[in-house]
Amino acid sequence: MRAVFKNYWRHSINTSALSSVRHLTITPKCAQSEANQAVESVTTGASPKTGILMLNMGGPRTLDEVHNFLLRLFKDRDIIQLPFQDYMGPWIAKRRTPSIKQKYDEIGGGSPIFKWTDKQGQLLCERLDKICPESAPHKHYVGFRYAHPLTEDTLEQMEADGVENCIAFSQYPQYSCSTTGSSMNAIHKFYADRAEETKMKWTVIDRWCTNPFLAKCFAENIKKELQKFPEEKRKDVFVLFSAHSLPLRQVNRGDPYSAEVGATVQLVMQELNFSNPYRLVWQSKVGPLPWLSPATDDAIKGLVQRGRKNMILVPIAFTSDHIETLHELDIEYAEDIGKEVGAEDIRRCASPNDHPLFIDALVDVVSKHLQTGHRCSEQFLHNCPLCVNPSCYGSKKWFRYATKAF
Ligand code: FES
Repeated sequence: MRAVFKNYWRHSINTSALSSVRHLTITPKCAQSEANQAVESVTTGASPKTGILMLNMGGPRTLDEVHNFLLRLFKDRDIIQLPFQDYMGPWIAKRRTPSIKQKYDEIGGGSPIFKWTDKQGQLLCERLDKICPESAPHKHYVGFRYAHPLTEDTLEQMEADGVENCIAFSQYPQYSCSTTGSSMNAIHKFYADRAEETKMKWTVIDRWCTNPFLAKCFAENIKKELQKFPEEKRKDVFVLFSAHSLPLRQVNRGDPYSAEVGATVQLVMQELNFSNPYRLVWQSKVGPLPWLSPATDDAIKGLVQRGRKNMILVPIAFTSDHIETLHELDIEYAEDIGKEVGAEDIRRCASPNDHPLFIDALVDVVSKHLQTGHRCSEQFLHNCPLCVNPSCYGSKKWFRYATKAF
């Protein structure tokens, strides 16, 4: 999201990428058609007993969708606060559209995040139908924040499909109020504005950063990438776990994200038997305010200056490819900065995407959730100690009710 927010972050009071878009659903004709296609593409068949709502930020699938994606983003006061936002938001979105389009063009013309999320959901539900017959049929639904299928459209579709049980399943393994939290706030806002109450029984999977299959998946991908280095250099390859950064202002309110990313890193390195030197670094910082550091690009430069010229970048907080992996890590860091500072070989470990171990992780998380009858984590129901966002309070109150109302 660095490119998206460039130069505007100083106005932000909330965070990186990701908050409610309920009040800024853009519905020009083309967007409406995109929305219908997107929802239809993931919603066919008979009434599912269990709907798995896969929540993520989303991304424009075509260059034509870039402007609406940015428009939703910049009009959203949960994520960024601008003076005269109703005017500034659209102005910034329009101004940024050409350069962001160019970046999406360089990675193939759009974000693959829907393709991967849809595939992950299909593979997940096929397995769940076999091992959890009591909650079958299972059906996955994709709910994105800024791109189609938008969360609110998908929720309407789930209600229309007669889904009995809804599992709000965050596709961010590590919880942050700016990612998972904002998706949950959007769900609450949708129902707060809707005349009819939900007919679905709700449960929530809000974090799964220590899932053993998730750690194994990353470890396998790192091992595979390590094999591509000459044997004599392999042990010295530096593993840089790179996660999206957060403003320190948000971290200091008690956001658990950085600690949870660290927990995943620890498990992955245990799987690797601590075979290589490693660090956790943070990408995509924008604006002048302090964020989690060191920044990934600074870390690369620092390591090369100190003679560490071979490294692997691991997108530890991303479960599928999108602009942060395909453009920021691959092109801006591995290629451009690598050349600039004289690195020998900077490789990027594959994102989980449809890796069988990653599908095992999804199946493990959801099947255990179903088997234990777990409604919602206590962690999720409590605000950060220094939370100042009124949306969080309303949302948590709603989920406390919705997940215990049956
Ligand atoms: Fe964390 Fe509101 S900022 S709960």
